[in-house]
Amino acid sequence: MKVAIDLFGTTFQNPVLLAAGTCGFGRELSDVVDLDALGGFVTKSVTLEPRHGNPAPRVTEFGGGMMNSIGLANPGLARTRTEKLPWIRDNIHRAHVFVSVAGHSVEEFLDLVAGLDDADGFLGFELNLSCPNDTRRGGAPFALDPPLVAEIVSGARARTERPLLAKLAPNDLDVSKTARVAVDAGADGLTLVNTLPGLLLDPGGAPELGAGQGGVSGPALLPIGLRAVSSARAATHVPLVGLGGVGGAADAVAYARAGASLVGIGTASFADPRAGERVARDLRAWRPRSGIASWSDLQPPVPDPEVEALDRPAQTAERRTGEETAAWRR
Ligand code: FUM
Repeated sequence: MKVAIDLFGTTFQNPVLLAAGTCGFGRELSDVVDLDALGGFVTKSVTLEPRHGNPAPRVTEFGGGMMNSIGLANPGLARTRTEKLPWIRDNIHRAHVFVSVAGHSVEEFLDLVAGLDDADGFLGFELNLSCPNDTRRGGAPFALDPPLVAEIVSGARARTERPLLAKLAPNDLDVSKTARVAVDAGADGLTLVNTLPGLLLDPGGAPELGAGQGGVSGPALLPIGLRAVSSARAATHVPLVGLGGVGGAADAVAYARAGASLVGIGTASFADPRAGERVARDLRAWRPRSGIASWSDLQPPVPDPEVEALDRPAQTAERRTGEETAAWRR
């Protein structure tokens, strides 16, 4: 099957990305993984200041997959500019890179985009609106608050012309609405989904993770990610990155059938760092039913944006006013 796909004004040699948080900034895996054999990768989420992250243990396993609470450990904006992106610029030639950014407020997201936009080495941004482990913020992730999604995406849109992905949450019962809000605000694509909030207890009743709760990933997340992609596909016309539980080519094909243009590999690459290369290779060898010659042919029809706009309820009218959002700004 032909696996190259044209998106965001460029060609991805295959649809497989390594998901944010699973490959650092590329260099960390470059001795074991041929990153340039992938469609691309998404960096670790970058915050304004460096973060040490949450207390250990940060990762644990269960029958359905894995749970993590890393707490967005990362080197911060300044070192990303001076060390991480120059390495990517000099060493990654065929894979496309998205930089994931995570703020604790609307303004932090916008400062991150503005502060990285003129650096070299990457194609676009992924706005991490859905981290379940961000203890400094408390409460629900931004992705579960459509007016804040609109503010962050439109503010980021005003600060960059690069492709902009909004990463949405798995526990959003109305993800098609949030998807539309993000697209109306200027997102070029959506990543669906992040990890799902969960809790594992040891036999004594103590949380297995140092932070208590964490985010569930791996096989248990596959049906949740597929549902989110399918809902977003029916509601929007932009490219979708399907993420959650992809362990092999069949899972990637299921995401394409649901409407994803690209697929992210996350938990599978912790067990096998070369899972992304394997999935890309197996997709190339995939023998689809007749009438399907390429990865793009697997995807359902994309809604017409004009019809989509006519159908749309007045969802952006729900924007909050100053006082309600001021809390997040501080
Ligand atoms: O704990 C973490 O750093 C997780 C981040 C995420 O899922 O976005």
